Parts: sequence; C-alpha cells; structure tokens
Amino acid sequence: MAGRVCIVSGGNSGIGFELCRGMAAAGFHVVMVSRGAERGQPALDKLQAEFGDSIEMMLCDMSDLDNVSKLHAEFTAKFDRLDVLLNNAGAMWGRREKTAQGHEMTFGVNHMGYFVMTQTFLPLLKSTENSRIVNTASEAHKMANLKLNNLNRENKRYSQWRTYGNSKLCNILFTRELARKLDGTGIITHCFHPGVVKTRFGSGSSGPMRLFWPLFRPFMIGSKRGASTGLHLALSEDARTTTGEYWSRSKRNRGNRHARNDDNATRLWDITENLLNE
Ligand SMILES: NC(=O)c1ccc[n+]([C@@H]2O[C@H](COP(=O)([O-])OP(=O)(O)OC[C@H]3O[C@@H](n4cnc5c(N)ncnc54)[C@H](OP(=O)(O)O)[C@@H]3O)[C@@H](O)[C@H]2O)c1
Repeated sequence: MAGRVCIVSGGNSGIGFELCRGMAAAGFHVVMVSRGAERGQPALDKLQAEFGDSIEMMLCDMSDLDNVSKLHAEFTAKFDRLDVLLNNAGAMWGRREKTAQGHEMTFGVNHMGYFVMTQTFLPLLKSTENSRIVNTASEAHKMANLKLNNLNRENKRYSQWRTYGNSKLCNILFTRELARKLDGTGIITHCFHPGVVKTRFGSGSSGPMRLFWPLFRPFMIGSKRGASTGLHLALSEDARTTTGEYWSRSKRNRGNRHARNDDNATRLWDITENLLNE
C-alpha cells in the first residue's frame, strides 16, 4: 500500500488517534487533522515516534468551515491523491454555541464538517482509484428527533443528547445519500458506531452528564477497539463489496428505521446544500 494517502480528522485524540495508528501500520501516509497545534503536537510526537515521517499534521478547526478550503490548499500543494478520507472529528457541546457560519455547534461540526470535508476533497477522491470515505457515526442516532426543517434546532430548549443524536443520524443519512450520488465512480463510503469508548468524549458536556459520564469509564472499551470497525471499513475487501452502510463491530448493522429513510437522506443533502449557499 506504499504511496497511499489518507486523512483522519480529529486524529489527535481517542478513536481518531487509533485510526491514524491503524492506517499508518497498514502502510498509508497519514495526514492527521487537528483542531489546533496545542493538542495536536503531543499526539503527532507520539505517532511519529512510532511511525516516523509517514505521519504529519495539518490544522483545521471545523467550527469555521472556511478552514476546510485552507486545509485543501495545504494538502493539494503536497499530494495529488487521496485514498481514504476518515471523517471523525466531532463532539457533544453541553450548551448552545454557534459556528462561524452561524450553525448550532454540534450540528455544524459533526454534520456540516463531514459534508464540507467530503465535498471539498471529492475531486481528489474521484481521481484516485478505489478510494473510500469513512464516517464516524454512533448508536446515539437512536436518540435523535430530527426535524429537517429546523436542523439548527432554533427556538427549542437545548438538549445536548438530542442535538448530538441528531448530528449522528445526519452522519448515517449523509453516508447513504453520498453512496447513491457516488454510484459508478468506484468510490465507496460507509459509516460506523465505534462502541462506547473511553476517550475525551463528554468532556464538553454539561449537567448530570458531566458528573456521571466519567463513572461509566471503567465499563467502556479502549480507543484501539473503538477504531477497529473504522479500520475494517477503510482497509478490508469485505467493506468494498457494498457501499452506503452503517456498521458496528465490523459487521453491517441496520440502525433504526430513521437511519434507513432514503427520502430523508436526499432531503438532508438538499437542505445542507441550501444552508451552505445561504
Ligand atoms: N467515545 C464514544 O463513546 C463515541 C461513541 C460513538 C461515536 N463517537 C464519535 O467518535 C468521534 C471521535 O470522538 P472520540 O470519542 O474519539 O472523542 P475525542 O477524544 O474527544 O476526539 C474528538 C476529536 O474531534 C476533534 N474535534 C472536536 N471539535 C472539533 C472542531 N471544532 N474542529 C476540529 N476537530 C474537532 C477533537 O479535537 P480536540 O482534541 O482539539 O478537542 C478530537 O481530535 C466523534 O465523531 C464522536 O461523535 C464516539
């Protein structure tokens, strides 16, 4: 696999860090995308101690989507191929915040971030044979109550889990529609639930969640196991036989009925495009 290049967003921590390790171990040149150098550099140092120059860091804070085109310019100045895009950067915000574009933060980073990253890198993915797009989703999609006419949940009491669940349902619907749009291009895309993983996830939450989430840590799986399904999707022949699916424990999973709603997947795509054009 020498010469192959991948991007892992949110690569400096948790599941993303292990995705970087797994991809480097599989022989890829890994571009670890971090929100900022302060948390990115120590992770990069650790990864380079293990894999040398086959890992590098680029910065992109997805709470301002304009940063994605800067990342793209930096990337394309160095590379003329992209074999695997792993959209993984995400979090749950404990209180209502806004992105630079004015979107609710959890939706803006977790969904719009994946969408814009994918759209921006799509020409490069298309010109690279057998490329893949892998999105980190979650079983939390089952907590969603997605209103497509109010994706930013305006004029609603802020619920961190509901908002997070909505964003993760968006990840699954986005993957479904993306697969449909990529039909015939040779690019496959999948998304996955990593498990309940002992990472920094939840550190930005509020209320009882902030108090109680750490108590569950002893029962959570490690990041290496959390990354394993994502690596299966990025690397296996099994994953290449289909596209557009939601996976858990390296197996295809149906998700709930909302996650299989193709009409909503198409509508979400169109509405997302409209939001970006506003
Ligand atoms: N942990 C779980 O149980 C679990 C379960 C299901 C799904 N997931 C999903 O797994 C993915 C990775 O989360 P994790 O559990 O590994 O948590 P994590 O350790 O907190 O890692 C999240 C990564 O996303 C980055 N990130 C957050 N906001 C960002 C922004 N505005 N711009 C760019 N990067 C940003 C973080 O950067 P910083 O280091 O700078 O904060 C970090 O690198 C997320 O999409 C999450 O929804 C996690």
